[in-house]
Amino acid sequence: MELFSEREKRKCPKRAKPRFSRQKPCGAVVEAQSNALAFALMLSCLIILFVLSLLSLPIPAPDTPTQRPEMKNSTLLIWWLPFGSGLPLPDCELNYSARGCTVTSDRRAYAHADAVIMHHRELIINWEELPEKPRPPAQKWIWMNFESPSHSGFLHRLDGMFNLTMSYRVGSDIFLPYGYLQRRRFHGNRPVRVERHRGLVAWVISNWSEEQERVQFYYRLQPYLHVDIYGRDFRPLLNDSVVETVSRYKFYLAFENSCHTDYITEKLWRNALVSGAVPVVLGPPRVNYERFLPADAFIHAEDFKGPRALAAYLKHLDRNPALYRRYQRWRRDYDVHVTSFWAEHFCAACQAVQASLHVNKTIRHLALWFES
Ligand SMILES: *[C@@H]1O[C@H](CO)[C@@H](O)[C@H](O)[C@H]1NC(C)=O
Ligand SMILES: *[C@@H]1O[C@H](CO)[C@@H](O)[C@H](O)[C@H]1NC(C)=O
Ligand SMILES: *[C@@H]1O[C@H](CO)[C@@H](O)[C@H](O)[C@H]1NC(C)=O
Ligand SMILES: *[C@@H]1O[C@H](CO)[C@@H](O)[C@H](O)[C@H]1NC(C)=O
Ligand SMILES: *[C@@H]1O[C@H](CO)[C@@H](O)[C@H](O)[C@H]1NC(C)=O
Ligand SMILES: *[C@@H]1O[C@H](CO)[C@@H](O)[C@H](O)[C@H]1NC(C)=O
Repeated sequence: MELFSEREKRKCPKRAKPRFSRQKPCGAVVEAQSNALAFALMLSCLIILFVLSLLSLPIPAPDTPTQRPEMKNSTLLIWWLPFGSGLPLPDCELNYSARGCTVTSDRRAYAHADAVIMHHRELIINWEELPEKPRPPAQKWIWMNFESPSHSGFLHRLDGMFNLTMSYRVGSDIFLPYGYLQRRRFHGNRPVRVERHRGLVAWVISNWSEEQERVQFYYRLQPYLHVDIYGRDFRPLLNDSVVETVSRYKFYLAFENSCHTDYITEKLWRNALVSGAVPVVLGPPRVNYERFLPADAFIHAEDFKGPRALAAYLKHLDRNPALYRRYQRWRRDYDVHVTSFWAEHFCAACQAVQASLHVNKTIRHLALWFES
């Protein structure tokens, strides 16, 4: 998976005009006056490209098997199954073409496991269950968390304990967002379908709490705009399916439960984008969203003076199909990938461990980094 800014940097030697990035393309070096300067710039471009290729460890799509026979086989031990999930553990080769990765939850593997992954939620309520035996010298402990800092307690107790971080946050050692866009191999011809007979705005919310910013925003929006609300205390989902329900609407309120850098969840990727609705987002600032998707793929609550102006704009788009379709145009070039908890996470972690067997480091300031 790639971030938009990284994608553009990687492609820059070929493309003169990056579409989503405001950065100067590396291709600009050809105009440099001095050959020496041009060479130095080109070299740094190459180094940046190389480093970027090391930083992102995409899970290969199932149809592109990786042939890396030199890779050591790695064992990843899951110390606690996240949320006690009873899901079967993945076969990383079968499911993600990731070779040489063994994922186990059998604690007897501790002494020879290359890495132990600990999920934050269980870690903070089960301190007494941490491994008693000393950590094998080359073993890495991986801190895994997909909740935002607002919902992650006791972070300060974790300083100096882990070797790698895994989260939705860009800059994690193992970075895995809730979803991402993948460029389509054959693109350009798919017509953008916009079904008629759609409702206007849907919202699915399971945890209604008056203190939340998203609920407060809804109260201010509701005098100007009718929103069909689904969830525990509201209408039941059609067929128990968020995607089936939301696919009958033009817009979806992808409001995050808390506002933090990169914290963009399945509310955007699955609830809105997979359902074919245009997301109206409330969360980190617009520039943060633009790291992950084109600027015209979403509407940000922050783009407007207030809820009233937002409501007026959505109604305006409702009456102007051509304008509305602009928000769907990106679909010709990209598919949405929603990461699959937790199989994809374990295989991505195992692959990252394989690729960093000789790395020796400790995360000294975990709380400081994650909360920033
Ligand atoms: C990894 O495991 C596979 C299957 O168990 C085995 O065929 C292969 O030789 C192993 N590779 C290494 C480098 O140990
Ligand atoms: C892995 O692949 C097998 C066989 O295709 C499938 O039955 C299983 O559901 C997959 N597991 C996951 C977690 O994707
Ligand atoms: C990692 O570094 C520490 C301190 O520098 C050292 O004691 C330890 O042996 C190293 N571990 C490995 C696997 O290189
Ligand atoms: C629901 O929201 C409240 C207030 O933000 C929060 O304290 C609580 O942890 C949330 N519950 C769940 C299950 O997410
Ligand atoms: C509910 O699911 C069933 C089976 O997947 C499907 O045939 C039916 O059309 C769905 N109903 C609605 C209202 O979408
Ligand atoms: C992992 O972190 C621990 C705790 O600081 C440290 O002792 C150990 O050397 C680190 N191991 C590796 C392989 O980085």
